Amino acid sequence: MLNSRRFQAVFRSVYSEVTSTFARSMSSHIDASKLVIHHTTSPKQKTPYEQLLFGATFTDHMLEIDWDEKTGWANPVIKPYGNLSLSPAASCFHYGIECFEGMKAYKDKNGKMLMFRPDCNMERLNNSMKRLCLPGIDSAQLIECIKQLLKLDESWVPEKDGYSMYIRPTAIGLAKSLGVARSTSCKLYVILSPVGPYYKSGFKPIRLLANTKDVRAWPGGVGNSKLGGNYGPTILPATNANAQGCEQVLWLFGEDHQITEVGAMNIFFVLKKADGGKELVTAPLTRGDILPGVTRRSILELARNWEKKDPSLSVSERWLTMREVAAAGKDGRLLEAFGAGTAVVIAPVKGIMYDGVEIKVPTGDEIGPVAKKMWTAVTDIQYGRVPHPTWAIPV
Ligand SMILES: Cc1ncc(COP(=O)(O)O)c(C=O)c1O
Repeated sequence: MLNSRRFQAVFRSVYSEVTSTFARSMSSHIDASKLVIHHTTSPKQKTPYEQLLFGATFTDHMLEIDWDEKTGWANPVIKPYGNLSLSPAASCFHYGIECFEGMKAYKDKNGKMLMFRPDCNMERLNNSMKRLCLPGIDSAQLIECIKQLLKLDESWVPEKDGYSMYIRPTAIGLAKSLGVARSTSCKLYVILSPVGPYYKSGFKPIRLLANTKDVRAWPGGVGNSKLGGNYGPTILPATNANAQGCEQVLWLFGEDHQITEVGAMNIFFVLKKADGGKELVTAPLTRGDILPGVTRRSILELARNWEKKDPSLSVSERWLTMREVAAAGKDGRLLEAFGAGTAVVIAPVKGIMYDGVEIKVPTGDEIGPVAKKMWTAVTDIQYGRVPHPTWAIPV
C-alpha cells in the first residue's frame, strides 16, 4: 500500500508526465516536425511487379494523425500497416463521415521519387473534409508527413515505366454517438499501394453506357467533393453497364442529358469545328456536380498552353448534351472521346451506348491524336522525363 505522501508524489509525477505529453503532442495544426516513426518488425514479402492488381497490395507502414475538437491534432505517427480498432458507434460507419484522396508517386529513370501535384490533392481533401464538418488540414505539413512515409517504404515504390505508388489519404469521423451531428473527433490516415500500368499491352479503348436513369451528382449536391458516399451507389449502375458489354457508366444530368463524368473519371470530347479546327470539351465546374480532377486540370492547363501557340485546338469548359454528341457522331464531327483520372491518366473511348444505339467514336480500338499527345505530355512530367518545377515534386 502507498502511504498518502508517497501517493501524492507518484500522482504528481504521473500527472505532470501526462500533461506535458499533451502539451507536446496536441496542436491546432498538423505538425510534421513532431512525426514519430514506429518501424515494422515483420516486413512483408513484396508482390512481383507483374502480379500487382490495382489497390490490392499495401506497403509495410501507414501514417495516422488523430484530431479531437478539445485537443486539436495529435502528433503524426507512422506505424506498421495494420487494422484499425474503432467503436462500432463511430460516425464514419453510420452517416458516411468519410472522404479520401487518390494521388501518386513515381520513380524517375534515376530512381528518384516524384509526387504529381500533391498540393492539388491536399486542396481537394481540405474541401471534402470541410464539407463533412471535419477540421481543415495544413497541406504543406501533410505533404511532408506523406513524403516521410514514402521514404520509409521507398523499396515498395516500383521502379519501372508505367508503374507507380498509389497514395490513399483518408479521413473518417470517430465520434461515438448515433446522433446525426458534427463529428468531434476524426482520424486522418494514409496508406500506400504499389500499382502496375493500367494498359499492360497498348491502350484498350472502352465502351460507355450513357445512363438515362441513375444520377451520380446534381447541382447543390456533393459531386465536387471526394466523399465515400458518392461512390457506393455507383457500383450497381456500373455492374449493370458491365452486364450490357460496357466498361463504364457515362453519367448524365437533366432532361436534355448533359454529359457530366464517366465512371470515376472526368470526360473529354474532341469535336471538329466549322472552321476545320478542333475543340477540346469537358464539363464545367460551375454547378458543383463535377469532381475537380487533378488530371482534368492538368489537361486543361496543357491544352490552353498549346492553344496559345497553335489555335487550331481550342479549349472549352461547357455542357455537351447527348443529342449534340449523337449529331456530331452522325455528321463526322465527333473525333475523339476519353476519360481522365489519376489511376489511368487517359482512357480512350471507342463507343457510347445511348438509348440502345451505339455512337461510334472513329478512333475505334486506337487512341486518338489529341489523347495520345496529352497522355505523353502528362506521363513525361509524372516520370520526370520532362522536368516541371511545380507539378513533379521531389519526395
Ligand atoms: C468522380 C471522379 N471524377 C473524376 C476523377 C478524376 O480525378 P483525378 O484526376 O484527380 O484522379 C475521379 C478520381 O478521383 C473521380 O472519382
